[in-house]
Amino acid sequence: MNQQPLRIVLVRSPQARERLLPLLAEGNRAKTGAAPLVAILAADLDFHEEFPKTFPYKPDAKELFEGLDREPHARLNATLQIGYFILGVRAAGLAAGPMTGFDAAAIDQEFFPDGRHRTLVVVNLGQPGENAWFDRSPRLDQDEVVTTV
Ligand SMILES: Cc1cc2nc3c(=O)[nH]c(=O)nc-3n(C[C@H](O)[C@H](O)[C@H](O)COP(=O)(O)O)c2cc1C
Repeated sequence: MNQQPLRIVLVRSPQARERLLPLLAEGNRAKTGAAPLVAILAADLDFHEEFPKTFPYKPDAKELFEGLDREPHARLNATLQIGYFILGVRAAGLAAGPMTGFDAAAIDQEFFPDGRHRTLVVVNLGQPGENAWFDRSPRLDQDEVVTTV
């Protein structure tokens, strides 16, 4: 379904940065403080409110989703969107540093006080400097992840 639950808060101002940094794991603070732009990526649990626009060919869909636990849907679809967000940033020639080292409940409270969002990933955006934080990590080989039956 065309759920589109991803919501993005771009943290640009120094004041907003100061609200975010203490909510991150210690090891993520310096790089997030140095990044030119930081994106908080969250799932909107009430994505179905937009169904009249995003799912117009099934008029009863909004009502159907009112009675469901929408959180697994929101998390799965927003996580897929986040993968494409990272690809898009890199395709545009910028670096994307995704992180899950943070207090998610605290970020929800600080940046989404309506209670209907769940923060999934925070991404640092910019151009890596000479001394990037760490080298790209090795990938598993195809025969380690693919089984043909
Ligand atoms: C879901 C997720 C969470 C991550 N959390 C952190 C983090 O908290 N801190 C950090 O420094 N890097 C974090 N990383 C970065 C990964 O270590 C790094 O992206 C991974 O090695 C893949 O390398 P690449 O980004 O060069 O493709 C995270 C990556 C992902 C995908």
